[in-house]
Amino acid sequence: MHGEVTISGAKNAVLPILAATLLTAEPCVIRRVPNLSDVKFMCQILTWLGAQVRCEGDTVRVQAKKIKGAGDYDLIRKMRGSICIMGPLLGRLKKATVSLPGGCIIGARPINLHLKGFQALGARVTIEGGYVHASAKRLIGSALFLGGRAGSTVLGTANVMMAATLAEGVTVIESAACEPEVVDLANFLNAMGARITGAGGPTITMTGVKELHGAEHEVIPDRIEAATYAIAAAATNGEITLRGARADQMYAVLDKLSDAGAKIERNGSSITIGRKGRLKPVDITTLPYAGFPTDVQAQMLTLMTVTPGISIITERIFESRFMHVSELARLGADIEIEGPSAIVKGGKPLSGAPVMASDLRASAALVIAGLAACGTTQVNRVYHIDRGYENIDGKLRQLGARIERIEES
Ligand code: EPZ
Repeated sequence: MHGEVTISGAKNAVLPILAATLLTAEPCVIRRVPNLSDVKFMCQILTWLGAQVRCEGDTVRVQAKKIKGAGDYDLIRKMRGSICIMGPLLGRLKKATVSLPGGCIIGARPINLHLKGFQALGARVTIEGGYVHASAKRLIGSALFLGGRAGSTVLGTANVMMAATLAEGVTVIESAACEPEVVDLANFLNAMGARITGAGGPTITMTGVKELHGAEHEVIPDRIEAATYAIAAAATNGEITLRGARADQMYAVLDKLSDAGAKIERNGSSITIGRKGRLKPVDITTLPYAGFPTDVQAQMLTLMTVTPGISIITERIFESRFMHVSELARLGADIEIEGPSAIVKGGKPLSGAPVMASDLRASAALVIAGLAACGTTQVNRVYHIDRGYENIDGKLRQLGARIERIEES
């Protein structure tokens, strides 16, 4: 594949940022919003809560003049990320009710740390009839530790940060998530009049304010989408320029790609990825940011299936995030699972076959495998991929891929 592709706004930044618009009655304007089904869900949830939402191209205008404190069960259960409406509702209305998000295919994904954070601010939290309720007469700032089994929590940090912006006094989150998406949310909240310092580091401090006002914000580019195209370039021995990608938010991925034999050129606001020659096996362990992102594990594992030699891919964030392995085996890949690790014996050519997508990043990995395999691969259940990749087939065709979307009968 050859050519240039424009990186869209980050899904995992825009979801909490859209939720944060609930913190004020004034109008907010969010730019570079990706056209994704998850974004549509979030806009439906905001509308359901009473906000006025207008989408024009990649700009979303929200005004949450008068809102309800309880989210719709059916809407919320469709998307785990919607849990991040709890913090803004609790912050502004001092009450919030949402359906308890169940587990998902990649892991149990409890929200105990979110709830622990709300309780530290003085909220009373109960779980009843499949719903979680949080309420408080007043929210009082406090110091809290948000580290869990796998380290920090991204949406947990976002949720507590949003509630604490309108709490009385100072809140300090220790073991906060450092992801660029958390920084992007903090920048938006500060633009609304919040007083947040330390975002991007493990200690975030918020000095509560009485109210927040409207603001405008441009979402950061999607580093996971950029990493996915970068790996596709390496897997197909192509050369792709990622327009608008931020190399400073992708060091762990670019470092491993370089070790694996990819050629990486940074030029201003774009990155060009190609190959320096034969690919080399690398070992990967997923970690919280700035470590190697779990959302790129499946794509990198796929690259290692077409790389001669043995590589070990260890998943430390989610308990069951190897659903793509059995599907890659259908294309002829040689992978063994040993506890939290996948041992990949790479180099044997893949051959096309019908495969089934199980989750968002697994489906992106199967598309990369299909592009690198001989023959034709059919990836089923692509609704998973539309949750997190804007117009992926259109962008890949632009880069020379032979890919088409077929309505499932
Ligand atoms: C965010 O999920 C992302 N989603 C995920 O991306 C990403 O994989 C994940 O962060 C890790 O980077 C969005 O931003 C919408 P966590 P989040 O809380 O916040 C455990 C994608 O493909 N944990 O940081 O839900 C949890 O089970 C998606 O775009 C608790 O134990 O993830 C996991 O093992 C998939 N208790 C670990 O922490 C809690 O209360 C990290 O989860 C919360 C989390």
